[in-house]
Amino acid sequence: MGSSIKKAVIPAAGLGTRFLPVTRSVSKVMLPVFNIPTIDFAVTELKKSGINSLAIVVSGLNSDIQKYFESVADMQIEFILQEEANGLGDAILQAEKWVNGESFCVILPDDLIIGEAPTIKQMISIHSRHDTAVLALKSVEDERVPFLGIVESQQIDISTHRITKCVEKPKIEDAPSNLAIIGRYIFTNEIFEYIKQTTKGALGEIQITDAINAQAKEKDVYGYEFPEEHFDTGNPAGLLEASIGYAVRYPEKAPGLIKFIKSLNL
Ligand code: UTP
Repeated sequence: MGSSIKKAVIPAAGLGTRFLPVTRSVSKVMLPVFNIPTIDFAVTELKKSGINSLAIVVSGLNSDIQKYFESVADMQIEFILQEEANGLGDAILQAEKWVNGESFCVILPDDLIIGEAPTIKQMISIHSRHDTAVLALKSVEDERVPFLGIVESQQIDISTHRITKCVEKPKIEDAPSNLAIIGRYIFTNEIFEYIKQTTKGALGEIQITDAINAQAKEKDVYGYEFPEEHFDTGNPAGLLEASIGYAVRYPEKAPGLIKFIKSLNL
């Protein structure tokens, strides 16, 4: 089966409260890792994965995001409005009409993956074989578990899992594993029905994890445990770590950095 994934959605309409005050006037996805906005890394990953049709879900039109992509080549970009920040599930639902019945992928720019092979490309190849939803997975430390979506799964081979359950932000004692969902998803079109059936959670948000959990109870959902380095840039400390990780990987971009870190005598 050839790749059926031609479209991607990037949800970028969140409030970015963890980055206040800068997010009073700058969209969170425009904050840079070194000198590149996190959303730019996501778009590059999509291009490398053969996708050239993108919808960005935004909280207001004519934003800094729209301006940034004004003259981009090799990618058709549509901007879709999410009127209220009702959660990631609701943001994805806004793209239903644009997706038009196809399977599609979603990237969250908060989750930066630095590596040679684009993670979305690997996931598209799993989707092509099984024709199911596919989630990116990473094993995380215990202390990170209560902040993430965690899966129960059976391992099929070195990097592939069959997912039987997902729980959003579990207590460590209730968590089915340490395998966390990282912001890369391939969805079949059925996800929209599962999102519509999902009720708002404690914070008044429609969680995508709840919709995927409902799907996993009825259909096959696969996971791809990716080997590359991952940074959570959704909070200021994580964004700084990503910038340092990036600059250390490309030392020619920041010639004095390692000397500076050594001079701190930590
Ligand atoms: P987060 O859960 O990190 O929320 O969203 P946030 O609003 O961006 O940031 P904080 O928690 O207030 O600091 C994960 C992804 O989902 C998008 C965000 O833009 C981000 O890419 N999102 C979230 C939406 O598009 N709409 C929403 O209603 C919520």
